[in-house]
Amino acid sequence: MTAITSTTRPLAPARPWLVRPPGVYRPQDDTWFLASALRASGMPSGARVLDLCTGTGALALTAAMSGAGSVTAVDISRRALAAAWTNTRLRGLPVRAVRGSLAEATRRGPFDVVLANPPYVPCPIPASGAARAWDAGPDGRVVLDPLCAGAAAMLAPQGFLLLVHSKVADVDKSLTRLRESGLAAAVVASRTVPFGPVMRARAAFLEEAGLITAGQQDEELAVIRADRP
Ligand SMILES: C[S@@+](CC[C@H](N)C(=O)[O-])C[C@H]1O[C@@H](n2cnc3c(N)ncnc32)[C@H](O)[C@@H]1O
Repeated sequence: MTAITSTTRPLAPARPWLVRPPGVYRPQDDTWFLASALRASGMPSGARVLDLCTGTGALALTAAMSGAGSVTAVDISRRALAAAWTNTRLRGLPVRAVRGSLAEATRRGPFDVVLANPPYVPCPIPASGAARAWDAGPDGRVVLDPLCAGAAAMLAPQGFLLLVHSKVADVDKSLTRLRESGLAAAVVASRTVPFGPVMRARAAFLEEAGLITAGQQDEELAVIRADRP
């Protein structure tokens, strides 16, 4: 990591207004939970930040307003990138919006801080259309597994990843995969939230797959922090 000083001063508003075209993920509990974990993380001022799976750019914007030196926002969706670009430019924030996935993000690194709120909702069929923002295969890990395996390669020495997902997508598996890749990983925050519309609509499948209990109507979100030595 480059020579940088530490700050925990929360400069970004908790829930900024955002332009959100149709088909782009509406920032939700998981977004704001990760944003608050970022503000509490002691992110070094001047840090090089990657917001992987940026959507509207809500987290890129939070990082830029919290003292990041540079922010790269990556998403596979063109509409999401247009939204992230607009939301950050409207505030005069110098965020680089890049279309791509993990490989492209890795190529642009290394980063001092990587933020990720990836798709993680288990789904019986392959994701398509707007649902690619949340659907993530039968166990919810289509994006999570490669992300956890590849996180170390995106990070600079002493850099860290902040990753949010629901316990229905197996937090222990994320911790194991991150540790296998050489990172020191732990859950730093968790919070129970009511099911949103996607989880409500998916409840029967989740129950049948044994991923939630009968009648369950809420889920636990976890923020995982993984540090590169
Ligand atoms: C749950 S949304 C999160 C959006 C935003 N970060 C937030 O917290 O509000 C996930 C985003 O990941 C993007 N995405 C899905 N698969 C991806 C992949 N393989 N690589 C990069 N982005 C991906 C989707 O287009 C979507 O914008």
